Amino acid sequence: MRKIALALAAFGLATSAAQAQGNYPQRPITMIVPFAAGGPTDVIARIVGDNMSRTLGQQIVVENVAGAGGTTGITRGAQAQPDGYTIMMGHMGTHGAAPALYPNLKYDPSKDFAPIGLAAGTPILIVAKKDFPAKDLKGFVEYVQKNGDKVNMAHAGVGSVSHSTGIFFTSVIKAKPTMVAYRGTGPALNDLMGNTVDFMTDQIVNVAPQVQGGNIKAFAIATATRSPALPDVPTTKEAGLDGYEVSAWNAVFAPKGTPPEIVAKLNEALVKALSDENTKKRLLDLGGVIPSTAEQTPASLQKLVESEVARWTPVLKAAGATAE
Ligand code: MLT
Repeated sequence: MRKIALALAAFGLATSAAQAQGNYPQRPITMIVPFAAGGPTDVIARIVGDNMSRTLGQQIVVENVAGAGGTTGITRGAQAQPDGYTIMMGHMGTHGAAPALYPNLKYDPSKDFAPIGLAAGTPILIVAKKDFPAKDLKGFVEYVQKNGDKVNMAHAGVGSVSHSTGIFFTSVIKAKPTMVAYRGTGPALNDLMGNTVDFMTDQIVNVAPQVQGGNIKAFAIATATRSPALPDVPTTKEAGLDGYEVSAWNAVFAPKGTPPEIVAKLNEALVKALSDENTKKRLLDLGGVIPSTAEQTPASLQKLVESEVARWTPVLKAAGATAE
């Protein structure tokens, strides 16, 4: 009798868990953004989250958990209950560069997550305060090389996209500016517009409106072709700088162990958002790159994370970058 009772209880538990997954989501979902509000990761999270909420029938609530180049928030996300009610917006920094910079990183980007899907590609721009004393990339590079640590480079914390692409840039031009860390490149951009910090390498979705508005200078975009959102900004190659081509990406992750049915529902909502005309327009207007259908699968994101960790580790080690 006892064995039957235990079996029934187990069956009951399994049934209710299956029902819960089947009716998922039954309450709002938290999306951790590991940087301050207003930066590129936050903007992408809110754009795609807005449409995902409509598909899922529950609000996706963004929670900004900044610190340590995004690794604080992602660590919290990795350790959350794998029940589909905590997801996170990671990116090339948190899930690509971080392992090279944080020897004691509390998560493994390739093992501790259930990838949901890629949200947007984000070309990198070299941008400076409006009154930076250079009129083109060649003059900018010469000035930074000549003035060393008198020049301040903003970034969003060790291992962030702005930090890792900034380290890559300074290693290519062989310069050593002073690094100024922020809780996100939203706040960094405010100081760039306030002329209190000199330059940064940042994701296009953050800086495009300010470049278009003439509030900051963009010396080049670090992709092979120009962005339709900033057609007058030359590529680094056109502007005379070889060896600096880099683009970032932002993607949705859930904690490892999230049930496959829930992963599928979240991916379906993300894919729907990326095919929604209004959502696409909001991302494209900011210079974001919409992933192809093949790039929108969880398996494709897993492969991207593995290749990005492999790509960034030697670049950052060669640049002598270490966690502060
Ligand atoms: C970064 O990695 O630089 C971040 O994306 C900046 C941000 O989102 O605030």
